[in-house]
Amino acid sequence: MLPESATYYVAGHRGMVGAAIHRALQAKGFSNILGKSSKELDLRNPLAVQAFFAEHKPHYVFMAAAKVGGIGANMSEPGSFIYDNLQIQNNIMEAARIHGTKKLLFLGSSCIYPKLAPQPLKEEYLLTGPLEPTNEPYAVAKLAGITMAKAYRKQYGCSYISTLPCNIYGTGDNYHPFNSHVVGALIRKFVTAVEQNAQEVEIWGTGSPLREFLHCDDLAAACLHLMEHYDGEDPVNIGSGTDLSIRALAETIAELAGFKGALSFNDQYPDGTPRKLLDISRLKNTGWNQAISLREGLARSIEEFKGIYATETA
Ligand SMILES: NC(=O)c1ccc[n+]([C@@H]2O[C@H](COP(=O)([O-])OP(=O)(O)OC[C@H]3O[C@@H](n4cnc5c(N)ncnc54)[C@H](OP(=O)(O)O)[C@@H]3O)[C@@H](O)[C@H]2O)c1
Repeated sequence: MLPESATYYVAGHRGMVGAAIHRALQAKGFSNILGKSSKELDLRNPLAVQAFFAEHKPHYVFMAAAKVGGIGANMSEPGSFIYDNLQIQNNIMEAARIHGTKKLLFLGSSCIYPKLAPQPLKEEYLLTGPLEPTNEPYAVAKLAGITMAKAYRKQYGCSYISTLPCNIYGTGDNYHPFNSHVVGALIRKFVTAVEQNAQEVEIWGTGSPLREFLHCDDLAAACLHLMEHYDGEDPVNIGSGTDLSIRALAETIAELAGFKGALSFNDQYPDGTPRKLLDISRLKNTGWNQAISLREGLARSIEEFKGIYATETA
């Protein structure tokens, strides 16, 4: 059992994943939950991070702070992607070691697997081949984080664990018209189309790539579960273990949003990797199960976006 009296620090508690972890800790009735915005505490700054840990001495740390972004941001700011992420990781892991943190969970990502790794992706495929060039600086930083967690466990006995989540969607997702990920982008397109009585929605790519999705509240539940039940050096994939085509995803979102028009797939846009699916046997072996089906999670997200859309257009 995670102790109620312990101090929990969620780095990046205002982001989609960090906020979900924060909510999950609150739902357990814990009251000592720390969170700081990047303005209040720039995690790239080693002295500031040391001072924060010296003052609060958090017992459990969830590392959901990172510089993240889509392909455009990764390609235009590669230096920031490697620098920010290395700094954030190095500073937190070192401060946690010095100030006696009991356990720390590091968030990696399924996008750090080798570009051509076999599917479904098993954790042992990490570092076995060339990376996707467009996000290499981000991936190298995250791989360094996983290696650092292992190294600190080996040298200092730190209980640091690492996770590799699939594509995450849900509360607090980015619904920006151009910078969002596929779920956020499709929800915006279909809700907007219904509101504007549009007859057709265009979807980028052929619709054939297969992808795996998990609601951020399920990811948060998995992170708390692993914090409680897993203490190994090997990283753990977190996903639903099932994939679906972008076409099937779009059709489901269209139906749930009440869109009755046509879907057109524009193959002038690139599809990316044909398939990305995680092998979640290691996670399953710890006794964790997904609680929010994709359909239920999408329906929730559509309602949340309708609220955002109403504010935008008010
Ligand atoms: N979203 C996904 O689909 C997905 C999938 C797999 C893995 N993950 C992993 O989950 C983690 C969180 O992702 P997310 O989607 O929740 O990202 P997000 O919504 O962009 O949130 C990132 C958070 O990091 C904080 N942050 C960034 N730079 C910082 C700095 N220099 N100092 C302090 N805080 C800083 C931000 O704080 P402020 O808001 O205060 O600026 C923000 O709250 C990442 O490690 C990511 O790799 C996400």
